[in-house]
Amino acid sequence: MLGALLFGYLCGSIPFGLILTSKAGLGDLRTIGSGNIGATNVLRTGNRKLAALTLLADALKGTVAVVVARQVIGMEAALIAGLGAFLGHLYPVWLKFKGGKGVATYLGVLLGLAPVIVLVFAAVWLGMAKLFRYSSLAALAAALVVPVALYIYGQPEVASLFMIMSLITFLKHHQNIRRLLAGTESRIGDKG
Ligand code: G3P
Repeated sequence: MLGALLFGYLCGSIPFGLILTSKAGLGDLRTIGSGNIGATNVLRTGNRKLAALTLLADALKGTVAVVVARQVIGMEAALIAGLGAFLGHLYPVWLKFKGGKGVATYLGVLLGLAPVIVLVFAAVWLGMAKLFRYSSLAALAAALVVPVALYIYGQPEVASLFMIMSLITFLKHHQNIRRLLAGTESRIGDKG
């Protein structure tokens, strides 16, 4: 199981946002906007394609970790690899353990473990984003709903994993929550 955790961690630790923006000559993403290495902050560079690519790559590293671990070892290993991928994105060894907030990787792990619930995530995220135009608020709302949806859907083990991941997601968004409360959070589409 330690192997699954490590494998997941290594997949998750690849900072695609940072790699793609630096390859595109946009400088160090950590000095732009919120300083986060995720797709929302890539969007603040004004490059939508790169933001979409970051979202896709950061999500798929979670999906790959889960799917490979399940094929090679089994379902329990898939859950552990999923957690590993999420933690890898948050605390990548390559960036001195200062990574992102994990929303795209959360989504990718969900895709690998319970694809139907991705529809719930997407509905909540898109609905909240359309209403309020805050990426962080949309992600936090989705993180609240997903564990409940997994329980209702009859996947209690996966729901427990996502409860932990949602809790960590809230903790990692503490600055966003503070900005949301103060009314200073930047909206989707605002440039950094
Ligand atoms: O998915 C990350 C998002 O929830 C917040 O990103 O850059 O606004 O802190 P950012």
